[in-house]
Amino acid sequence: MKKSAVAVVILAAGKGTRMRSERPKVLFEVAGRPMVNHVLDAALGIRPDRVVVVVGHGAAEVRSAVRGDSLFDGKVVRFALQKEQKGTGHALRCALPALRGFRGTVLVLSGDVPLVGAETLRTLAAAHARSGAAATVLTFRPADPTGYGRVVRDSRGALLDIVEDRDADFETRTIAEVNSGLYAFDAAVLPSTLRRLRSANSQGEFYVTDVPRLLRREGIPVGAVRVLEPEVVSGVNDLSELAAASAVMRRRVLERFLAAGVEIVDPSSTFIAPDASVGAGTRIEPFTVIEGGVRVGRSCSVGPFARLRRGTVLEDGASIGNFVEVKATRVGRGARARHLAYLGDADVGAGANIGAGTITCNYDGRRKHPTVVGEGAFLGSGTLLVAPVTVGRRAVTGAGAVVLAGKGVPAGATAVGVPARIVPGTGRRPARGRR
Ligand code: UD1
Ligand code: MG
Repeated sequence: MKKSAVAVVILAAGKGTRMRSERPKVLFEVAGRPMVNHVLDAALGIRPDRVVVVVGHGAAEVRSAVRGDSLFDGKVVRFALQKEQKGTGHALRCALPALRGFRGTVLVLSGDVPLVGAETLRTLAAAHARSGAAATVLTFRPADPTGYGRVVRDSRGALLDIVEDRDADFETRTIAEVNSGLYAFDAAVLPSTLRRLRSANSQGEFYVTDVPRLLRREGIPVGAVRVLEPEVVSGVNDLSELAAASAVMRRRVLERFLAAGVEIVDPSSTFIAPDASVGAGTRIEPFTVIEGGVRVGRSCSVGPFARLRRGTVLEDGASIGNFVEVKATRVGRGARARHLAYLGDADVGAGANIGAGTITCNYDGRRKHPTVVGEGAFLGSGTLLVAPVTVGRRAVTGAGAVVLAGKGVPAGATAVGVPARIVPGTGRRPARGRR
């Protein structure tokens, strides 16, 4: 049997009034990524023939977020503009020109359902194909159905209608099954049905949720399929739901690391970006943040209360302790910064010991400058390294030393004081840059 063609429409034009922000709702981030990008990734994961993203409120910003997606493919993804936000049905109507000539199944997704994955979309498309219905609604039973459209079925379980929360009477509100805002439609029925939508509801909007009822009235079969895990299709309409979605996403990411042998002592207080990497045998203590792109090797120790920022690489066996911030820095094998330090734009050699309170003063108010700490160097507590600066191999600094920019400490030498002076008789050769 030939698989029918699939197009995906992502509705992402709404303002998101309940977020109480001017920022378009779909650009709020879950696990460091705009919601619309999560939805786009799920869509592209099923290798559709076409994707249409409907933009409107903050169109330029939403477009550029979508274009910036790592999976973005300009040959597949098109944009449609919904100038005025007149409802989800109207938004889908605005996508029709971009679907012209397309025959097959149109999956319609909401840009505010960020936890959905390709797997769920495949389930929806398969159920739709199996039933032969012209429209299939993906439904679920959330812990609290408030705010969602209720799914009304007849006594035999057939889909009758979707009734929005604000338009529902008391009895309809008691229905536990709700609309996920994800649908499969036969492309052929969309133009004529969307034209017939009316806005006689409490919001005066054109609802896509009226499409099943309109089809049924003409005797065209419609269906509904329920997903069992509510969390994959939960919608985000306010900041509380955003936080809940982030927690789910975060937990998913941590499960991946746990399965790969990373010991996470307290997942509830640990944040690791999905695109960070952490080697097996590494132990992450509570209250640790590991941001996007960071690479942590094997058998490292991180935290508690550590923050590893973009561009950080910890080599195997490195140890980063409490209240240490590391940014764009390589920390060599077995090197240690156990207490209260800031390492930015630095390169720390293997086995170096970074004393408590060490700071790389990397910013002069205009530019960032690099710091190099050689292998086996030992920095005393409270050392300030004013970049650009190099501390040589096995060099030592005394507590409170302020090593000035360009001065550096030669390999094997000991530097003490403010500004730091080399202790006579120490050191094997001048550090680079000092001549
Ligand atoms: C919608 C459904 C509701 C469902 C819920 C699931 C309707 C009328 N209601 O409600 O049945 O239970 O999703 O999460 O569809 N959008 C546009 N243009 C518009 C309006 C909205 O593109 O004019 C986009 C939004 O950006 C958003 C999506 O459509 O991504 C859903 O809109 P939203 O206002 O969040 O609808 P809900 O009230 O959540
Ligand atoms: Mg919504």
